[in-house]
Amino acid sequence: MIYPEHVIEEIREQSDIVSIISEYTALNKKGSSYVGLCPFHNEKTPSFSVSEDKQLYYCFGCGAGGNVITFLMQKENMSFIEVIKYLAERENIKLDETYLSQEEVENNKKRGLLLDILKESARYFHYSLRAPENEEALKYLLDRGLTMETIKHFGLGYANHQFNDLYEYLKQKGYSDELLLESGLFLQGKQNNRMIYDRFAGRIIYPIFDLSKKVIAFGGRVLDGSLPKYLNSPENMLFNKSRQLYGMHIAKNSGAPYFILVEGYMDVIAMHQAGFSQTVASLGTAFTPGHAKLLKRHTKEVVILYDSDGAGQKAALRAIPILRSEGLKVKVLLLQEGKDPDEYLKTHGYEAMKALLEGAPSDIWFQIHTIEKQYDLSVPEEKVKFLQQSAGVLAEKSSSIEQAIYLKEISKAYEIDEEAFKAEMNRYYQQGKSQRVARSMAETTTRQKKQVFNNEVIFLANLYHYPNLGRHVQAYLRPEFFDEGLLYDLAKAILESLKSNQEIDMTYFTTHYPEAVEQNIISHVLIHKDQRYEDVALLQKMMTENVRRLNKQYIEKRLKETQDVQEVQNLLFQKKELDKLNIDYING
Ligand code: CTP
Ligand code: MN
Repeated sequence: MIYPEHVIEEIREQSDIVSIISEYTALNKKGSSYVGLCPFHNEKTPSFSVSEDKQLYYCFGCGAGGNVITFLMQKENMSFIEVIKYLAERENIKLDETYLSQEEVENNKKRGLLLDILKESARYFHYSLRAPENEEALKYLLDRGLTMETIKHFGLGYANHQFNDLYEYLKQKGYSDELLLESGLFLQGKQNNRMIYDRFAGRIIYPIFDLSKKVIAFGGRVLDGSLPKYLNSPENMLFNKSRQLYGMHIAKNSGAPYFILVEGYMDVIAMHQAGFSQTVASLGTAFTPGHAKLLKRHTKEVVILYDSDGAGQKAALRAIPILRSEGLKVKVLLLQEGKDPDEYLKTHGYEAMKALLEGAPSDIWFQIHTIEKQYDLSVPEEKVKFLQQSAGVLAEKSSSIEQAIYLKEISKAYEIDEEAFKAEMNRYYQQGKSQRVARSMAETTTRQKKQVFNNEVIFLANLYHYPNLGRHVQAYLRPEFFDEGLLYDLAKAILESLKSNQEIDMTYFTTHYPEAVEQNIISHVLIHKDQRYEDVALLQKMMTENVRRLNKQYIEKRLKETQDVQEVQNLLFQKKELDKLNIDYING
């Protein structure tokens, strides 16, 4: 971590969670906390709760939970450090650079300067687009159907034709050659004079924004048919192609039920202009798992809308498994009329596009149709091949529900015997089975681990929220019963607060466990009081079982570790005593 704890703590203390979350959802005071509709999932009755004393939030509906920092990390997609900076600025707290290592100071400085250069350049390009001598460029965009509003919305621009116009402009502002070269805006000649010139000269400019709407790179298109048609900034400390989606800075706030993935700049812009502000594109690079992860943070469903040519079809087939492996629902729409979305919208408009998007076939049907095109189904041998390949596609899908549904649909559509088709699919399925068994074993172990973990979390939450019973059982518990790290610390803090009657020191948990998953667990334990355990009998049963389980677990672990004969005897005695343990406690 870059900033010392006391600075982060000061920022956190001054940033009131209630007022910050109120900017995202309306909160009403109810008892000691505030409640409202959860900003992380759709709901009609409020199950989202914010505790002012603990400075934590928790949703009883979807389990989202954490502190003000993780809230902003998740809602605004910022990193921890970005949130700290944002809050510091908001609360007028000065972050002293002396907290940073020399290298971090230099990197920060460089990053800041690069961002300045890109911002200045974007302004310059945008301004140039309106200069009378460049009317040809503006005319190009208007002829392609963009409105002035859209041009401003996306900050489009034009790089003057003179080979080093931008270079001169920035040089005069005092930036060094080294920094300018690193910005990706310039190229350097190999001749003796090592001349520096503008990479994008003579091109229409598409600024690329990050999620906080800062310009981090550019794309540039020629005005005529010359090649290469598009150029993109090279990667540097600001720009990572495989994690960046064009249009995401707007799409993330679209609130749309599904996102649309297109191939390029003009498609994104045309789609947004038409009203589909949930459209994004990967830039001058194939679709990557990094892109899928980014999408997953903002939506559950993606419609792939690529060009209907062979390249578009291939790219769609490659993107499908990448999106699926993030658990996204995928549909594919390849336009038959008009090569790409931009052209289609011009002739058919919003409503027609919307109908196509909503009726788009699932990824599986898209794959089946693609296979179908390779064969003449009126020839029996070809039909057999088609069925074999389709069976292969189905066999790859992990969910058997999905398999059953598609077996039925496909058999019906192609008039084939469902049983025979199923047998074929199972044959493929068996082939891939050993791999799948290995995979599912791995999944089972993580699931089991997760289950144990969940038990521990629920147990600690009950210990905390039912302190009368908690005080009764604390004698049987030790922090060492829990995994080292967060659970150990939580157990320790709860046991101590049961003894001392003092509130838990939240500062410790915010600074030591800044990660979103950790804050989620903390808020689960400290805020989620499970009302079912108001039933004393149930609570006693739960406590007895867990106290026994935790003790046994610990004794067995010690028995394996210790060499001390006396300790072994003690442990064996304790183990026997455990069976007699029965936590009975009369409430009141
Ligand atoms: N692309 C690229 N370099 C190229 C060609 C294409 O980086 N030489 C990228 C661009 O991001 C482009 C996308 O691939 O937007 C799709 O390419 P293409 O279909 O050729 O361009 P369009 O988006 O249709 O562009 P336009 O409509 O302006 O011709
Ligand atoms: Mn196009």
